Amino acid sequence: MNSSRPLQLLALTLAASACQRSAAESPAPHAASAPATAASPDGCAAAAQLAAMDTRKPVPLQPMMAWHQKQNMMEHLVAIQRITAALAQQDWDEVTKAAALIESSPQMQQMCQHMGAGAEGFTDLALEFHHRADAIAPAARAQDTAAVLTATAHTLEACTRCHATYRQQVMDAQAWEAKTGSSLAH
Ligand code: HEC
Repeated sequence: MNSSRPLQLLALTLAASACQRSAAESPAPHAASAPATAASPDGCAAAAQLAAMDTRKPVPLQPMMAWHQKQNMMEHLVAIQRITAALAQQDWDEVTKAAALIESSPQMQQMCQHMGAGAEGFTDLALEFHHRADAIAPAARAQDTAAVLTATAHTLEACTRCHATYRQQVMDAQAWEAKTGSSLAH
């Protein structure tokens, strides 16, 4: 994690220079409410408008966590792309390999717990998603096209349910620690 430190600082600095500056300067910093209160020409008002329209439950994340989450998400979609492309070719080995990218593992579990620390129910949904994906590889090993498709659709249903329920809420380290009661910052 040491190598990501400069990036993390950069991300925090960028965030602080935008919507969170006023929160950082105020006596009781609450980044969560900063976008709504900061009237400024730098995009904070626009961000507050978006937050008001997007009524999904916020998942509090520090900038580096939010970026990691987005990278994970893009990888999840690539996994699904590879699974469907391989299935069309009946390339069972490739289906199995691609499914491994979204299967349950102790590392996945730890990551999901960290990401969901400030959002009730998020981690459960995330673990349910990985658990559903565990059914894809056995179906591929059985060379059962319908079963692979069924397991993949069942997995995608967990993706879309989470997307319908949660959105990112990016905040600085202090605000995140206050929200989650955690002090780990990755
Ligand atoms: C437990 C919750 C959860 C699950 C499960 C989940 N996602 Fe996401 N995903 C999110 C959140 C939260 C965002 C960020 C939304 C936002 O921008 O506020 C996101 C964003 C994304 C994005 C946009 C990334 C970007 O660059 O902004 C993609 C693509 C994506 N998810 C794909 C998937 C796919 C594919 C799956 C399933 C195979 C999946 N996700 C499962 C929570 C989830």
